[in-house]
Amino acid sequence: MPTRTLNRNAEAPEIELPPDAATADDHRNPRRRRNEEEPVPDVGLLVQPEPRHELDKLILHAEVKTDILAGLRALEIRADLDRIWNLSSIQPQEGKCILNFYGPPGTGKTRAALGIALRLGKPLYQVDYSAVISKYLGDTAKHIKAAFAAAREHDAVLFFDEADSLLSKRVATGESCSTSINQNRNCLMQELDRFDGVVIVTTNLFENYDPALLRRIQRHIKFRNPDASMRRELFALHLPNPDRVKADYAVLAELSKGLSGGEILNICVNAIHAGSVDADPAKWMVTQGMLEREIAKAKKAKAEHAGERSKNRRKIGFQPS
Ligand SMILES: Nc1ncnc2c1ncn2[C@@H]1O[C@H](COP(=O)(O)OP(=O)(O)OP(=O)(O)O)[C@@H](O)[C@H]1O
Ligand SMILES: [Mg+2]
Repeated sequence: MPTRTLNRNAEAPEIELPPDAATADDHRNPRRRRNEEEPVPDVGLLVQPEPRHELDKLILHAEVKTDILAGLRALEIRADLDRIWNLSSIQPQEGKCILNFYGPPGTGKTRAALGIALRLGKPLYQVDYSAVISKYLGDTAKHIKAAFAAAREHDAVLFFDEADSLLSKRVATGESCSTSINQNRNCLMQELDRFDGVVIVTTNLFENYDPALLRRIQRHIKFRNPDASMRRELFALHLPNPDRVKADYAVLAELSKGLSGGEILNICVNAIHAGSVDADPAKWMVTQGMLEREIAKAKKAKAEHAGERSKNRRKIGFQPS
């Protein structure tokens, strides 16, 4: 979604708007002007987690795994928690658990959400961000409500993947867009307060969250890039036929320093493609050389991307805060 800016007057610097900011320049919903009944659209997708999404198949830092399991256990032993701690007197909603997974791309946040749904025996209602955001005043809030209603209806884990824009800070009243942004944030907070179920939000931009939303989230879990022994396991996991692999996993783990689980997945898939070109599938094989070439390509692309980003930041006079 392209970034929009608001120029308050000729002298003032432009401020960056969240994508759900409806400004005075935006149209009012023409249907509403004609008093037409509006159907509430589907704003998400119901995903059934599969056995391959098992939490045990994720290679995570120990503290991340511990935090996830602690959240799940709290739901499982709720009756005992009530009996011993009288938990209902301070937290009356028995099934409520709001989790925030934050951290760099490709570290397993989305996969962990699927793993949690699988463990709870529930589907995942994955909110489609582009369907929620509307340029028409009032519609985004309506779509947020629809997402919660759908999760209730399907008894699903509600999943806001890459939620940073929807959860970003409110803006000072006075800006022409403030009504819509603040209405959306307030609506989200009300719905979170009412919802007695599991909600998972993920982001790469945790610093943008509105503080009032922050405190409604029970557990903030930071995902990080894997260390060397985890990278070794990630290579083994993503090369599922070891009989067809001739590689030194310890060397691969060293060479892939700084890469994420998602990047290791791509390296392995590309190496499998490279090793499957012979007309005779009996000869298909992944070698150390194939994997090393793919690691080098992934690192080069990453370095070039970082270079482009810093060049662009210098161009626009980016000031780190
Ligand atoms: N910790 C991990 N353990 C096992 N596999 C992983 C892990 N992290 C990433 N992967 C692999 O990478 C794929 C992509 O990971 P995922 O989509 O969960 O990342 P993400 O953290 O949600 O990234 P983004 O922030 O870009 O959405 C997974 O399907 C899995 O194959
Ligand atoms: Mg994700």
